[in-house]
Amino acid sequence: MNTKVIAVCNQKGGVGKTTATLNIGIGLARAGKKVLLIDCDPQGSLTTSLGFDPDMLPVTLAQGLQDAMQGLDNEIPLIGEDSIIQHHNEGIDLVAANIGLAATETALVTAMSRETTMKRFLKDRIKIYENYDYVLLDCLPSLGMIMQNALVAADKVIIPVMPNYLSATGMMQLFDTINRVRAILNSNLEIGGIFINIFDKRQNLANETIEAITENFGSDVRVFDTRIPRAVKAAEAPVVGESIYKYNGSGKVAIAYKELTDEVLKYV
Ligand SMILES: Nc1ncnc2c1ncn2[C@@H]1O[C@H](COP(=O)(O)OP(=O)(O)O)[C@@H](O)[C@H]1O
Ligand SMILES: [Mg+2]
Repeated sequence: MNTKVIAVCNQKGGVGKTTATLNIGIGLARAGKKVLLIDCDPQGSLTTSLGFDPDMLPVTLAQGLQDAMQGLDNEIPLIGEDSIIQHHNEGIDLVAANIGLAATETALVTAMSRETTMKRFLKDRIKIYENYDYVLLDCLPSLGMIMQNALVAADKVIIPVMPNYLSATGMMQLFDTINRVRAILNSNLEIGGIFINIFDKRQNLANETIEAITENFGSDVRVFDTRIPRAVKAAEAPVVGESIYKYNGSGKVAIAYKELTDEVLKYV
C-alpha cells in the first residue's frame, strides 16, 4: 500500500493536536481510507478521547516500543483481547498510550538505534505498509525522544497553531528539530502544512498569524485554507468518545474538519 505517515506536532500543549488527530483521522476513514492512529502522549488523551480507558488496556504503545527497542521478534497480538490495536466504532484503529510511555521515553535515550524504534515498530510489528493508507501520530508536547521517533517514522508533519499562542521562538525550535531530523535521520520528511486551530472570529488574529508564519518560515510552507473554529461542541465530543462528525455533524467544526480532511487528501 502507498502508506502515508503523518505526525501531528507542536511542542506547545493545548493547541488542539489530539482533537485534530482524531477528527482528521476519522475524516480520512469516512473518505474510505484505512486509518491507524497512534497515541504518542503518556497522558493518553487520544486514547481517552476515543472512549478507551488507558489504564485498562493490556497492551499499549509502551510495550510495543519496549519490544522493538530490545529487538524482540515475538508475536505481538494484533487481534483479540490482548491486541495492541483497538478498534473504534467510527472505522479507525488505535494504538493506545498510558503513563507507562513516560518510562519508555527515558529508556529510549540509551537504546541502540534510539531514534528509529517507532519506525521499526510500525513497519515490522504493526505492518502499516500492508494494512493502512494513513497512520497519524498524535505527538506529545515536547521535543524529546518520542517526538524524534515520530518524526523519523513520518513522511509529513502537520502543525496546528492557535493564533494567540503563536510563539515565533517555539515555531523556530520545532522547525529546527524537523530540519535536523531531515538532515540526519529521515530525508523523506516534509512539512505537510500548518493550520489555524481553535480560531475565534472575534480575535481577528488569524491573518496576522498567517503573515507571521510566512514572514518567519517562508512562503514554501503551506498554510491550509481551512481554519478550525472554536466551539464548545468540539470539546464535548471527546468526553463521549465520539468524533465531531458523529457528535454534531451539521455544526461548523464538523464542516471545517471535513474541509481540512479534503485538503489533507489533496496535498499531504
Ligand atoms: N475547535 C475547538 N473548539 C473549542 N475547543 C477545542 C477545539 N479543539 C480542541 N478543543 C479543546 O481544547 C483543549 C486542548 O485540545 P487538545 O486537542 O487536547 O490539544 P493538545 O493535544 O495540543 O494538547 C481540549 O480541552 C479540547 O477539547
Ligand atoms: Mg494532546
